[in-house]
Amino acid sequence: MKAAVFNQYGSPKVLQLQEVEKPTPKDNEVLVKIHATAVNDYDWSMIRGKPFLYRLMFGLLRPRKNIPGMELSGVVVSTGKKMTSFKAGDAVYGDISEHGFGSFAEYICIDEKALTLKPNNMSFEEAASIPHAAALALQGLVDIGQIQNGLKILINGAGGGVGTLGLQLAKLYCAEVTGVDSGDKLEMMKSIGFDYTIDYQTEDFTKSGQRYDLILDTKTNRSTFSYLRSLKPNGKYVTVGGKLPHLLHALFFRRVIHLFSRKRVHIIGLKTNKDLNYINELFESEKIKPIIDGPYPLSEAAIAVQRFGKGVHRGKVVISI
Ligand SMILES: NC(=O)c1ccc[n+]([C@@H]2O[C@H](COP(=O)([O-])OP(=O)(O)OC[C@H]3O[C@@H](n4cnc5c(N)ncnc54)[C@H](OP(=O)(O)O)[C@@H]3O)[C@@H](O)[C@H]2O)c1
Repeated sequence: MKAAVFNQYGSPKVLQLQEVEKPTPKDNEVLVKIHATAVNDYDWSMIRGKPFLYRLMFGLLRPRKNIPGMELSGVVVSTGKKMTSFKAGDAVYGDISEHGFGSFAEYICIDEKALTLKPNNMSFEEAASIPHAAALALQGLVDIGQIQNGLKILINGAGGGVGTLGLQLAKLYCAEVTGVDSGDKLEMMKSIGFDYTIDYQTEDFTKSGQRYDLILDTKTNRSTFSYLRSLKPNGKYVTVGGKLPHLLHALFFRRVIHLFSRKRVHIIGLKTNKDLNYINELFESEKIKPIIDGPYPLSEAAIAVQRFGKGVHRGKVVISI
């Protein structure tokens, strides 16, 4: 089978289309013919071997796991003896990061727990773009942020996968939503329904004097205290991810902050694939639609990863296989 393989750490150019052995499912796995996959932070970091922490997981000098990819959609080809949830021919999708990587390939063997049935009206490209970003957005806004009707919300880093789905989820609660990202993404953001947009390159939203009930941050790049300025008295700040020192700062000060104010600071620990059936319902009733950058063919996986790394993508970068 064909796969996008990297045998050394480096720029996305190290990713080459190669012929590799097609896997065979163990008793607890299903074999999936992959139709589409998506690019995530993990892939960008794994291919470059940066931050260094990734090398502790994937190989110190050379990558031990050399096919990236942690989201997929495709069709079940065969199932291991102990697998009961799916049968050959089922169209499925999911976030496989808890069970291994390797979705930049034509086939994969994976634990059935990583998979959910794909609705008929969802394309394979849409399905591959959904599981990771939708789960982060849903857990950030609903489970942790406890969004209610009519709140004033800000999404920082709003033009990517989490932000564009997060907006659509927030609109189900009639929220007023401000999106912050680089200037060239603001047109797209307005077109999908952000009420207000802010170019972070020309304006610091934490100094605008505006206060929000809930901030969802995909790019935590300031000290926690500067975000507090932008929260209403009972406001919540929920970070999805960002720069490690700032995340540690949030972790360290969150209890103290709540002790001295009524504001709350939360860091999401992603529960992969949680509530995808609910996301399926929203998709089937046309309440959400992912924004896709691409799709790119597998032979252009390096270009797709480079777009993600440069931050020029809009929504989710998808690769068709
Ligand atoms: N908590 C968990 O368990 C968990 C698990 C997995 C992943 N994550 C995290 O989840 C996040 C995924 O978000 P995503 O997929 O939506 O990312 P994404 O597609 O890369 O979107 C992030 C957006 O932020 C913009 N941006 C960059 N710097 C910014 C700044 N200083 N201020 C405002 N916006 C900025 C980027 O555009 P420009 O570059 O053009 O500015 C991009 O449009 C990542 O941080 C990842 O590490 C968390």
